[in-house]
Parts: sequence; structure tokens; C-alpha cells
Amino acid sequence: SGEQLQERIRDAKARLGGKILILGHFYQRDEIIVHADFVGDSFQLAKHAAERPDADHIVFCGVHFMAETADILSMPEQSVTLPNLSAGCSMADMANIDQVEDCWEQLGAICGTRPDADGRRQIVPVTYMNSAASLKAFCGRNGGIVCTSSNAHAVLEWAFARGKRVLFFPDQHLGRNTARAMGISPDRMPLWDPYKPSGGAADPAVYDKAAMILWKGFCSVHQRFTVEQVERARRAYPGVKVIVHPECSMNVVDAADGTGSTAYIVKEIANAPAGSAIAVGTEINLVNRLAAQHPDKTVFCLDPVVCPCSTMYRIHPAYLAWALESIERGDIVNRVTVDTDTAGEAKVALQRMLEVHP
Ligand code: 13P
Ligand code: SF4
Repeated sequence: SGEQLQERIRDAKARLGGKILILGHFYQRDEIIVHADFVGDSFQLAKHAAERPDADHIVFCGVHFMAETADILSMPEQSVTLPNLSAGCSMADMANIDQVEDCWEQLGAICGTRPDADGRRQIVPVTYMNSAASLKAFCGRNGGIVCTSSNAHAVLEWAFARGKRVLFFPDQHLGRNTARAMGISPDRMPLWDPYKPSGGAADPAVYDKAAMILWKGFCSVHQRFTVEQVERARRAYPGVKVIVHPECSMNVVDAADGTGSTAYIVKEIANAPAGSAIAVGTEINLVNRLAAQHPDKTVFCLDPVVCPCSTMYRIHPAYLAWALESIERGDIVNRVTVDTDTAGEAKVALQRMLEVHP
């Protein structure tokens, strides 16, 4: 039963003591979050994994790219376990290394590969944290960098200081929303569709004129939010504050009052005055938890049809119990390891991010 599983998790964790570090992303279900030693957004979790060399084992309750990042940033002797290896991210899966290498080659032929007269590169690759380790490694070896939704602005400033254009993958919305907030016109942000010849542009010269080339990826959870939902929330709750994640489309971000990472959303709701109403455009497990934590405020999800991240949800308590007990036995299941070469190059891009935004 559910209660027996909770007990198994508590017991295994108690027996493992300080050897174990359980990390939980904000989108995890409550039955998992209660066991986490640290809960955060993807940036905070990556940093935390890097700052806890005292733990022998890290159990990552999140999705695959997060566990990979924890493995890259933690010490080699620390193990990282993803309780259910099928907890991936559909957005991260929208870009693979062969497609990115192919795009890079084609863009090189269009835009050139030699630095400009002022020493700036023609293109700087920027990958969202939500990507495979091989894509982070690509950025590491090609003068690029990683960003998360909480530091995309600072990272893009870094990239534009070093190059004429940015190739941003895999999330078009985070790229577009962030660059637009920096004053760049969406007209100068053509899409690159990896499934179409030449990225899908009728005239490849658009990439030459671009400020930012956006990979045609998206988050299926956040792309569902609509302007109509924002309008409906405003009609139902006059004075409501609407806050959304930057993986939402540009129109939704425009219609909202604030945009930011999950950590920003958590903070905004904590700081909102009692009695206020806040409509949120992000994953439902987080929104429901925030609503429960702030009974003095009206906190609700913009989407009336429940929209969990189905892969985050794959971390079921049964998997967590199983993973912890396997560590106790010394026969660890579902370890996530990134090979040394990939990890080394990916770490270069991750460390650039941590320098830009500690
Ligand atoms: P953040 O944790 O950076 O807000 O990202 C949200 C998300 O979609 C994680 O997969
Ligand atoms: Fe991926 Fe979206 Fe789920 Fe985040 S919410 S893990 S981006 S599918």
C-alpha cells in the first residue's frame, strides 16, 4: 500500500543516514517531495549536486538530463541514481547530437566559421539545461554554454558578447522569450527544424541575418497554456496576478504579469500579499503544492484540465523505495553515468554557466 511504501522509504533512508542525498525537482509528486533533502529548480539542483561531496550516493527525483548533470558536477566516486530510468524529458529528446552537428555544419556554410573583424564568433551555441549530456559537450567544445530558465538572460548576454549570432536549443520558447526581453525582434529569430531540409527556411539567408536561430523544440506541458486561459483567469478573478514559466509561448508570456523559472514562481507566491489571487502557468504538481502551502491566497493553475509532466510523474514511490534499498544492499540500480570524455566537455559548458551566474 501507499503507506507501506512511505515506510520503506523512510526506513531505508534512516538506515543509510548521511551517506545519501535525495534531490527533488519542484514538479515531483508530494509523496516523493516529502523524502527529499533538497527541493529546487533545475539550476538549484545542479548546484546542490556539485556542493555535496560528503554524500556517497545521490538519488535524483527528477528527469534524466538532471541526473546526468548531477553526475557531471559531482565527484567521480559519488553515484547518481534516477529511480525510474524511463523518466526522460520529451523536450530534451527533440534535439540529438547528430541533428545538432548537422545543423552546425549547415549554418557554418551559410554564416561562415571565421570570427568577425572584431574577433566575435559567427555563432555561439547555447543549450538549455533540458538536453542530453552530449549536447552540453557540444557547447563545451564549440565555445558555447548551458543555461537554465533562471539564468537565460545573463547567459545570452555572455553569448552575444562573444558572437554575432546564437544557436539556441532545444526550447524555442525560452530562447525567444529571453532574447525578446533583451530587445531583440522575433523577426530576427528564425526557426531551425531538424526534420526539414536546410532547417526549413525558404531562403537560407534568413540564418545569416539572424540574431538567434531557434531550434524547433518545445515543452508539451508548457506549450499547452493559452492567452484565452489568461483572459479567463482575469475575468474570473479581477486583479489576479498571472505568472508563467518561460517555456510558455511568447503570446502567453506577453499576456502574463510575470515570467520566470519554477524557483521564481515559488518566491512570487510566497511574497504575494494574503488575500491575493495568483494564476500560474506551470506544472500542476507544483501549483497544487503551492496552493496547499498558502491557504490565505488563491493559487490556481491557468489550465483547468490537469497537466502534469508525465515523465516527472514516473518517479513513483515504489521506484524510490527500490532504489534506496538497492543502495543499502550495495547493488545499485538505475545508475546514471556520463562517459568521461562527454562529461569533461559538458562540464566546461556548465562551468561557464556557473561563472556567469553563480
Ligand atoms: P526549471 O526547473 O528551470 O524552472 O525548469 C522547469 C522544467 O521544465 C524542468 O524540466
Ligand atoms: Fe521536460 Fe517539460 Fe517535463 Fe520539464 S515539464 S521535464 S521541459 S517535458
